[in-house]
Parts: sequence; structure tokens; C-alpha cells
Amino acid sequence: MKRALITGINGQDGSYLAELLLEKGYQVYGLMRRKSKVDYGNAAHLVNDIEFVYGDMTDIVSLVNAMRVSQADEVYNLAAQSFVGTSWEQPIATAEIDGVGVANILEAIRTVKPEAKFYQASTSEMFGLVQETPQKETTPFYPRSPYGVAKLYGHWITKNYRESYNMFACSGILFNHESERRGLEFVTRKITDAVARIKFGLQDKLELGNMDAKRDWGHAEDYVRAMWLMLQQETADDYVVATGETRMVREFVELAFKYAGMDIEFVGQGIEEKGICKKTGKVLVEVNPKFFRPAEVELLLGDPTKAEQNLGWNRKVSFEQLVERMIKADLNRVSSEK
Ligand code: GDD
Repeated sequence: MKRALITGINGQDGSYLAELLLEKGYQVYGLMRRKSKVDYGNAAHLVNDIEFVYGDMTDIVSLVNAMRVSQADEVYNLAAQSFVGTSWEQPIATAEIDGVGVANILEAIRTVKPEAKFYQASTSEMFGLVQETPQKETTPFYPRSPYGVAKLYGHWITKNYRESYNMFACSGILFNHESERRGLEFVTRKITDAVARIKFGLQDKLELGNMDAKRDWGHAEDYVRAMWLMLQQETADDYVVATGETRMVREFVELAFKYAGMDIEFVGQGIEEKGICKKTGKVLVEVNPKFFRPAEVELLLGDPTKAEQNLGWNRKVSFEQLVERMIKADLNRVSSEK
């Protein structure tokens, strides 16, 4: 029986990856931070199937312990301060968790079980102010947030341990991936949650920042498959995982309202822009400058050719299916809560 350790087990990706590995017959260990109230988050339905180990990415002793306890053959580092917006408010914590934390776990692996395979959750945020489009493995990086800068350190230290110690260490440069389990602060889930609440009369309108931003959005369930595939190869390498399609935030908003049966149209420009319900004329979407970021990543579009060719990976969920699944789940949840 193969053994896997997943950091960030209670996040969106951690829970989908745990499901995948359990299905494949792995013994799964999940690293969890101690809180005053136990919170399994997205992994709550798996409590009886996973062994939880307390630890923290900033505490190498706890990571060495997690490696000793799990004796993992594969380690997936999905733990992070993953919200870009917060990284301007907590740049140091973000650097410690998302940057130095990666060095900590690599050292823990090197100390306890250097032959273990390692997956690092790198990100398209490292491309930031994009230097070419579409972005691929060879595109130069230009991060635009403390989050992107910290993740870039994590990316390079992973490569460096591969080259320095011949460790099987890979980075997946994952473009945005969403799901019904996405945190409410991320734009896609903020939108689908708000649309559902508006539909059931619990909220008047949705306030957003930059709706011109373009993202390459896939479904998280497809993306965790790519993580696993990377660790099943003969040699360790880095891969872009993306859909190869880019959409504006505004398109996501339009589609989410449409699937909830409330077609909207956008009128006005800049901070005056509004999304108006075609049937009732009510303003349902407004711009609030408080959601603008100090520096923005305007466009992300990934080229997944290498992952498709070398890993045999393909995404299954389209943009439209992603929005539909998310909106359906939030409509169901909000209606039952109501
Ligand atoms: N969160 C949020 N809230 N974003 C908004 C809003 C808003 O009200 N209005 C507009 N946006 C824009 C952001 O400015 C950004 O351009 C885009 O929507 C997406 O924002 P997020 O959903 O917060 O995701 P992200 O692209 O910044 O980061 C996500 O993807 C990365 C991969 O590229 C996160 O999952 C990161 O952890 C991940 O690395």
C-alpha cells in the first residue's frame, strides 16, 4: 500500500486529492494546523479514512515528525496562504508559509526519507505581468503580489533540491482551478454564492473589483489528477496545468446569473459599470474599488501541451460546466439554508 502525505488537506485541492488517492488504495495522511476548534474543512467527510497529523509549514520539527509518522512515499505540498489579496496585508506570513515553508518540508523529506517523491503547488501567479501569451513552462516569471513572489521561491527551491540532491521533486504550475468547494473569498465562489443569495432574496447585489481581469479557469478535480500523474513519471519535471482558454471575470458573472435564471446586461464604464437584470431593471452588480488590488495580474492563459503530451492529462470539465456546477451547488445550499 502506497503512503501519501498531503499538506493543506482541508483545502479545496487537498480534499479532492485525498479522494483520488483513497480511491487508488493509498494510505493518506493529512497535515493539519491545531486550532481551538477542530476544523476538517473540505476534508470533513473523510475523517474516518485519513490519518491526521498536527503540524505547521513554518515549524520544521512538526514536518519532520509528519514524515516520521507517515513514512510517505509521496508528499503533496498544497498548504499555503493562498489568497492573493491577503498577501498584501500579511506579506511576511505569506513568505514564511508559501516560501520558506517549502524549504522546510523539503528538508524534512531529505532528513527522514529522501527517496520520497515531492509535489509542489506552484502557480500561474508567478507569471504575473505576463512576458508572453500563452504562458508555458519556459515563459519568464514576473510575479505581481507578495503571494506570487513567495511562490516563486517555493518553485525555485523545489527545482534546486531536485538538482542539488537528485530528489524526485516536481512543481505543477497550476492556473486557476475552482469548484463547489472553493473558498468564498475567491472571485468565482464569491460570484456563485452571491448570485444564489440574490436569487433567494438574502442579498441585494454583488460588489466586485476588476471585472476586466482574464483568467484560465478549470475544475479542481481535473487538476489534482495532474498532480498525481506528475509523481508517477520516471523523471521529475515541472508542468503547466491549464485549459488553454481565458475568460473575463465579467463573463463568469454573466453566465452565473444566466444559469440562475436572471439574465443581466452590463452598462457604464470603469467604476460606474453596473450589471442590470434584464427582466426587472434592478442593479445586481456594482464595482467597489475596495476590491481592486495594488498590482493586478490582468491576463492568464496557459498552454498545457507538455502536460497533455508527457502525462496524458486532459481536462474534462469545460468553463460552462464549471460555472454550472458551482451555481447549482450554491443554489441548492442557499435554498436549504433558507
Ligand atoms: N477575490 C476577488 N474578489 N477577486 C476579484 C474581485 C473580488 O471581489 N473582483 C475582481 N476580482 C479579480 C481579481 O482582481 C483577480 O484578477 C481575479 O478576479 C481572480 O481573483 P481570485 O479569484 O482571488 O484568484 P487569483 O487569480 O488572484 O488567485 C487564484 O489563482 C492562482 C492561480 O493563478 C488563487 O487560487 C491562487 O492561490 C492561485 O495561485
